[in-house]
Amino acid sequence: SDAGGKPRLNVLLAGPRGFCAGVDRAIKIVEEAIRRYGAPVYVRHEIVHNRYVVESLERQGAIFVEELDEVPDDAPVVFSAHGVPKSVPAEASRRNLFYLDATCPLVSKVHREAEQHFSRGRHILLIGHAGHPEVVGTMGQLPQGTVTLVEDEEQARSVAVPTERPLAFITQTTLSVDDTAGIVAALRQRFPAIHAPAKEDICYATTNRQAAVKAIAPRAELMVVVGAPNSSNSLRLVEVAKRAGCPRALMVQRGRDLDPTLAAGLGTVGITAGASAPEVLVEEVLTRLSEHFEIVIEEVVVAEERITFKLPSGLQHA
Ligand code: F3S
Repeated sequence: SDAGGKPRLNVLLAGPRGFCAGVDRAIKIVEEAIRRYGAPVYVRHEIVHNRYVVESLERQGAIFVEELDEVPDDAPVVFSAHGVPKSVPAEASRRNLFYLDATCPLVSKVHREAEQHFSRGRHILLIGHAGHPEVVGTMGQLPQGTVTLVEDEEQARSVAVPTERPLAFITQTTLSVDDTAGIVAALRQRFPAIHAPAKEDICYATTNRQAAVKAIAPRAELMVVVGAPNSSNSLRLVEVAKRAGCPRALMVQRGRDLDPTLAAGLGTVGITAGASAPEVLVEEVLTRLSEHFEIVIEEVVVAEERITFKLPSGLQHA
């Protein structure tokens, strides 16, 4: 660096990063519902796992609740991108609520797979993280006891399953690609006849964001993942960065959360963002770094994404 100037810092920007098509669609559904039906529009659960997104929708007139019983009878309600158990739309219909379903089409696809396996008499193993709303929603497509959760390889080797029925597995969409491969291998070894998804359930956005992090991690001394602690795909990006050889990886929700002294003395920092994190938060992180460093940005793009999802039919042709 020049005498008296800021020290130079190379920044590797992962591409793709940030919003996926399912998140983009879910946010548009809430915005369009407010525009059409007027505020307030209720949203069951964080529409996507990001505080910044939630707060900006609140300013536009959205009210976030955890359960349907917090929604008044005369207000529209949107279900979040993660999907909901069948009991939720059933209860909404029983109450004559007007609802819009922002479940990502790639999550709905897994729901349909689950139903098909069930209708063919198969017992289902769901690979996923206990308690995540997507897992709650997918398990809730079928009667209790017909889906068994498998969280890791150890459980794949040991979990009790009914012996009298054929087996199938499905997965959460936002898992670690590498961990899931290990779990699937363990299941196949134990149950060679297990039915697998025709095309894998981990979505394109999760796969691409992990691949982009792997591409930059070996060159970066610090990886900053813009995301939220309850965002499954963002948590996975932190893990992937460490495993791919980045000595340090951390998550920040936005620019002000980043301690710039962490980058002092470093040559190269990697930056990515989870699928629910808007690009404006990545820009905040870059601004924060540029206050202390002369940053030189290189974007490393491993995949082009052109996929978009239509809004539900009721909200189209706005
Ligand atoms: Fe859908 Fe994957 Fe995004 S399941 S919401 S496209 S992370």
